[in-house]
Amino acid sequence: MSIPVDPVAVPDRVVALAGGAGLEPVWRNDYGGLTFRTGDSRYIKFAPRNEESTFAGEATRLQWAGRYVRVPPVLEVGGDDTHEWLVTKALPGESAVAPRWIAAPSTAVRAVGEGLRALHDALPVTDCPFDWGVASRIASAARRDIRVADALREPPPIDRFVVCHADACCPNTLLDDDGRWTAHVDLGLLGTGDRWADIAVASMSTEWNYGPGWEDALIEAYGVEPDRERLSYYRELWNAT
Ligand SMILES: Nc1ncnc2c1ncn2[C@@H]1O[C@H](COP(=O)(O)OP(=O)(O)O)[C@@H](O)[C@H]1O
Ligand SMILES: [Mg+2]
Repeated sequence: MSIPVDPVAVPDRVVALAGGAGLEPVWRNDYGGLTFRTGDSRYIKFAPRNEESTFAGEATRLQWAGRYVRVPPVLEVGGDDTHEWLVTKALPGESAVAPRWIAAPSTAVRAVGEGLRALHDALPVTDCPFDWGVASRIASAARRDIRVADALREPPPIDRFVVCHADACCPNTLLDDDGRWTAHVDLGLLGTGDRWADIAVASMSTEWNYGPGWEDALIEAYGVEPDRERLSYYRELWNAT
């Protein structure tokens, strides 16, 4: 997953959604999904349909979470036989993996850790209609023909039950010019689970984006002592599913 450097072919549907506004490719994920920013301050996500999540589901989650935290406001969501698209209003701020923040990892890592904590503190678990618990994740993997090892079927007891981001890797936090977190994006799987499910992925993802040595700094910014057992369990579950 990265900010595209090679030219990106713009799908016809994206051209149509832009409606004459300029288009800049900003992101390409590992599953063929593309994100464009339009000249009139919208973001267009366009991706092949997949079995794990849908943009319709992401739109529903964004609308729910948007009552409590800053996330992209949904403008339009749609799909055809093969692809889906999601159009949101641009939020101010830049991804924590924008070049300026890759060059300032201690600021970025702190912002992502603090942002994740704020998200968990703000979203009300009792109101949340979405589930990202271990059983539902393993069931979702099974529908995609992924069989999870028996050892992972028994999670550690829940430490704190929260509404998880569910893809808490660094690129999904936006930072302001001062390097403080300002919003969360990419909520396609948001749902309830143990907070360590997110902390494990957020801290692990620092290595992909900033190199080794930042994992515990993220956990410190979140404001907890590292729980090695839950970190290792939820990292393995992430990698397995
Ligand atoms: N509404 C928005 N406002 C600002 N930035 C956005 C918005 N939507 C997406 N982005 C940017 O585009 C990137 C890709 O969007 P994301 O939803 O994370 O797609 P993917 O599922 O492919 O990771 C994000 O990391 C963020 O930098
Ligand atoms: Mg993302």
